[in-house]
Amino acid sequence: VGILRAEVSDTSLRTEYEKLTRRLLERAVDSPARRPDEVLDSAIHPEALRLCRRNWQRRMIQEHQSAQVFSSMLPDLIEAEATIDVKVCVLRSAMDELHHAALCADVVSYLGGVPEVETNLQLPPIAPHPGVPALERSLRNLFFVGCLSETVAVSLLTEERELVKDPYVARVLKQLAGDETLHARIGWVYLREVWPTLDEAARERTIEYLYVALAYYEKCMVDATPFASIPPIILAEARSIGFADCRESRALFYETMESVIIPQLEEIGLPARKAWDARASATSTNKVGDVTLTG
Ligand SMILES: [Fe+2]
Ligand SMILES: [Fe+2]
Repeated sequence: VGILRAEVSDTSLRTEYEKLTRRLLERAVDSPARRPDEVLDSAIHPEALRLCRRNWQRRMIQEHQSAQVFSSMLPDLIEAEATIDVKVCVLRSAMDELHHAALCADVVSYLGGVPEVETNLQLPPIAPHPGVPALERSLRNLFFVGCLSETVAVSLLTEERELVKDPYVARVLKQLAGDETLHARIGWVYLREVWPTLDEAARERTIEYLYVALAYYEKCMVDATPFASIPPIILAEARSIGFADCRESRALFYETMESVIIPQLEEIGLPARKAWDARASATSTNKVGDVTLTG
């Protein structure tokens, strides 16, 4: 256990980091950085503030987890002879996630909190898929992260963006949503490219994995969204400064599976409908990947 922060040092690397962030990682014309004149609405209920601080602190951990997941994919992609654009976009995603962690830390400060969180700094590694060829390993992990986790993250962020009122937090959410959209797309593009090249045996193994992955992902999402009853007035205030309600998140997760992910997988040629419907009977509890609620 240690303290997770997202500070910038006072060395010359700070300049490099700031240049990189401004020129490469920020997407919109509107920088997500907080402006000097931006202050939080002082009328926000303390309980709403407390919930939001915890929410944004938790995100600092999830974003680091996502950064670790993307950066861990490089060796498999190299071994799998992936094209250079895939490798660069995956590493860009890792940088995006670290940038997100910094943005989340800034929001914690804005909300009057301390931008750090105590957690186990040994984050879980990505699934190794022993005995599976590199191409399939990279496909499985990029599928799990891009087509499942990041695709759901985009839905959750879209919902949050509709409810947020604070202009600074709105810009941060816009940056996160834009980035997670790319992260999801990497998974979908890779799946569309790689799936048709797999031989019969590789497809069978991948389909077997699909059954386990969907069941495992559902379990992760259910675990990550424990229901807590929050008074409606507090919830509305929390949402005005960026808050994901678990009940809503879980409903959105199912909706995204049904209306986006399953149909898209089917269209590519994977028997996702059958796999999703059979998830209750999926027996393997092997860890198949890592989940991040907000990508
Ligand atoms: Fe992401
Ligand atoms: Fe992220």
